[in-house]
Amino acid sequence: MAQPIMRRTHFVWRCVAILCSLLSIAVIIAGIVVVVVCHVIHPRVPVISVVDAHLLHFNYDGAGGLVTQINIVVRSQNDNMKAHAGFSNFNLELFFDGIRIAVLSTAAPYEVKKNSSVDFNYDYTLDPIPLSPQQMEYVDAYLKEDEVRFDLKGGVRARWRVGVFGSVRFLCNLNCRLRFHAANGTYISRRCSSKA
Ligand SMILES: *[C@@H]1O[C@H](CO)[C@@H](O)[C@H](O)[C@H]1NC(C)=O
Ligand SMILES: *[C@@H]1O[C@H](CO)[C@@H](O)[C@H](O)[C@H]1NC(C)=O
Repeated sequence: MAQPIMRRTHFVWRCVAILCSLLSIAVIIAGIVVVVVCHVIHPRVPVISVVDAHLLHFNYDGAGGLVTQINIVVRSQNDNMKAHAGFSNFNLELFFDGIRIAVLSTAAPYEVKKNSSVDFNYDYTLDPIPLSPQQMEYVDAYLKEDEVRFDLKGGVRARWRVGVFGSVRFLCNLNCRLRFHAANGTYISRRCSSKA
């Protein structure tokens, strides 16, 4: 009576052992693939950055609403020499003193060829945004200092398709302060890039 049960148990354990071996081999192969891919492609992670901007209008109207007209150029860069990069879920948010005043996004995913870049030019004329008396004071102060400050936060998902092996994914995050001269709207250029 005990013999068949033993045999069946034995069989089950053999299956488990074989599955484990296959799994280990798969993990080892995946590891080798990652190492090879990293050496062959020599990854330079995709990067998004603000390359130019202009503040065309910034003040509050008679009703205390912030009126802003702004232009921001965001570059998606793929320094990889061997693989196209696919970008998706592009979403950047522009804040003035914690108020989200604009969302920069793309209608659809997009591709950036090897060793190349794509620029998106965002032009916004924003509807007046109600400000608190304190925020109106900030606006006055910024105008007086001749330095207007916004925060730009968000990111994009990037992906390299690597031959038959699938793809390598990245998350490019941006978190920077954009500064402008109030008098002429000139962007005070600072590094604003998702590069680590
Ligand atoms: C990559 O792009 C730069 C500038 O556009 C160019 O000078 C260089 O030759 C390119 N390299 C390759 C391998 O295509
Ligand atoms: C804008 O104004 C600042 C100082 O207010 C000045 O340094 C800068 O050169 C001006 N830019 C242009 C394009 O006139």
